Amino acid sequence: MIPFTKFENVYFTKDSRGRERFFTQNLTPGLSFFEEDLVRDGGREYRNWEPRRSKLCAGMAKGLSQTGLKRGSTVLYLGASHGYTASFVSDIVGREGVVFCLDFAPRVVRDLVFMCEKKENMAPILGDATDPKSYAYRVLPCDIVFQDVAQKQQAEIFLDNCKHFLKPGGFGILAVKSRSMDITIPPRQLYAKVKEKLEKETTIVDFKVLDPFEKDHCIFVVKKP
Ligand SMILES: C[S@@+](CC[C@H](N)C(=O)[O-])C[C@H]1O[C@@H](n2cnc3c(N)ncnc32)[C@H](O)[C@@H]1O
Repeated sequence: MIPFTKFENVYFTKDSRGRERFFTQNLTPGLSFFEEDLVRDGGREYRNWEPRRSKLCAGMAKGLSQTGLKRGSTVLYLGASHGYTASFVSDIVGREGVVFCLDFAPRVVRDLVFMCEKKENMAPILGDATDPKSYAYRVLPCDIVFQDVAQKQQAEIFLDNCKHFLKPGGFGILAVKSRSMDITIPPRQLYAKVKEKLEKETTIVDFKVLDPFEKDHCIFVVKKP
């Protein structure tokens, strides 16, 4: 298991064809939540993280230079769904960190509640990301705001949450699904529009198109001044 120098607490192996597999050290040894492979190495247990199931992992596989995520980070995760990516973020931030996992679909938040009973640094929130004031009382100031919601106003929702919760100097990570925003314009053109909006309030530190892992998606990493 080889640690990434640029992504704290994320590891990789290479198979005989040179293909990378991604891992985090399992915060809850013995437990896998999505039937992911558990691998033991050097007395530790690691969970296999699939870039085809996670836009954050896809961004790493596409060569992001940084995410800002580290041990002890406080994270607001918007669009946590059943918790696939959030569970790996939980491994990365470890026991000293916390991941506030928000989704507006009661069905998935119910699943999240069961996961959060096992992964004690995760907190489920049933809430609508378009209305940060409605859940502000449940969230601490954050080092990282991560967003993956398939909504037309993805950039505005993200910036509004960064305004409310992100500490100065904190990192925002935005996964963009171009077809949810506007199906009539080519993805590259849409990414340029999102970039323009983000640049007005943040500093963009990285950007990657996520194809072929996620068709017509990209990811931005920004820093709050
Ligand atoms: C593509 S899924 C997220 C997958 C997840 N990030 C992962 O990698 O495991 C998008 C999620 O965003 C949620 N969502 C969409 N709009 C939302 C909103 N306004 N507020 C909260 N959640 C929202 C949906 O219910 C859905 O679960």
